[in-house]
Amino acid sequence: MNNGKTALITGASSGIGQELAQLFARDGFNLVLVARNTEALNQLAGRLWEQHQVESVVITKDLSEEDAAEEVYDQVKERGITVDVLVNDAGAGLYGHFATETDWEREKALIHLNVLATTQMTKLFLKDMVARNEGKILNLASLVSITPMPLMAVYAATKAYVYNFTQSLINELKDTKVTITALLPNATDTQFFNRAGAPDVKVTDHLDDPEMVARDAYKALMKGAHKVIPGGIVNKAYEVMSYVAPQEALAGMMRYNMTPKNDLKPDGSEKSAAWAWGLGIAALALAGVALAVAYSDDKVAERVRNRVHPDNWLPELEGAIRSARELVGNGWGKAREAVS
Ligand SMILES: NC(=O)c1ccc[n+]([C@@H]2O[C@H](COP(=O)([O-])OP(=O)(O)OC[C@H]3O[C@@H](n4cnc5c(N)ncnc54)[C@H](OP(=O)(O)O)[C@@H]3O)[C@@H](O)[C@H]2O)c1
Repeated sequence: MNNGKTALITGASSGIGQELAQLFARDGFNLVLVARNTEALNQLAGRLWEQHQVESVVITKDLSEEDAAEEVYDQVKERGITVDVLVNDAGAGLYGHFATETDWEREKALIHLNVLATTQMTKLFLKDMVARNEGKILNLASLVSITPMPLMAVYAATKAYVYNFTQSLINELKDTKVTITALLPNATDTQFFNRAGAPDVKVTDHLDDPEMVARDAYKALMKGAHKVIPGGIVNKAYEVMSYVAPQEALAGMMRYNMTPKNDLKPDGSEKSAAWAWGLGIAALALAGVALAVAYSDDKVAERVRNRVHPDNWLPELEGAIRSARELVGNGWGKAREAVS
């Protein structure tokens, strides 16, 4: 049923943005759908009306162009729409060696889209939300916000910006009822890699489901969480690993992931090196996560404390030393007998 609220989603014409639009519509939000592909947006608007009886306003806009965000804001204001939730999803990547392969004009447009448009959209709509003391924003960062990403260097840097920017705003907004959430998906099965010019890189062997990503993101956004890493323990461990591992090791792993499958050596040596680092670090990270979880449970913490208390392990240690001395003594006696 229509709840009378409105969510504005940039990048709603495909992928994660489109999945998010479905979830908002299911909960009765009207929508403002923004992207370049008018036909895809109109089709989505039609489906959302048929399935959920929510209204959608379609705004065709290239957000990599100067002042595009302001034009979107003006159109929304002219129609008298109050945006209760803003989702800054529109984004793109670009694949290739920065020094020799990628094109500056495309990189400039990418920075404009991922950084400037996201920042300006946030600036314009957040001001109104703070004035009303209500509202929610979801910013599309990425797991590569916290790791280097060779061969998509500019993209990863833009996502580091989005993540950092969002975390700072969370603090600035802490005395208001406005919340802002950073979404950090792992590699996801959308048009993203194709469009970035990286269709057959190793990482595309294992892609997350965009529906799952949107579901986890939506839940976190509604709760006002500071950040969300969709998926299971592996994606969470990846985050911990990114904080503890040396940057060179992370860059090496990501380089492996971003290598076209045809260019990988058949003997798998690059894989072994990347995985040796990855598995070692992931094991450490998982041990850390397990300890943190265990210690957050009082009963488990108590059992661990009991186990490491000297009253419990000293007698066992003394017993072990006694047996070791006996073993050595017996062995020494037998050796002397044999010699004599
Ligand atoms: N897929 C992944 O592995 C992954 C992982 C982490 C984060 N992310 C982030 O998730 C977000 C969504 O990407 P996706 O994976 O869903 O990829 P996608 O299917 O390619 O969707 C990208 C969306 O952004 C819109 N967009 C692209 N350039 C635009 C422009 N210049 N102006 C306006 N809209 C534009 C596209 O619509 P039009 O083409 O119609 O304009 C499309 O709706 C991006 O910010 C991406 O960086 C993706």
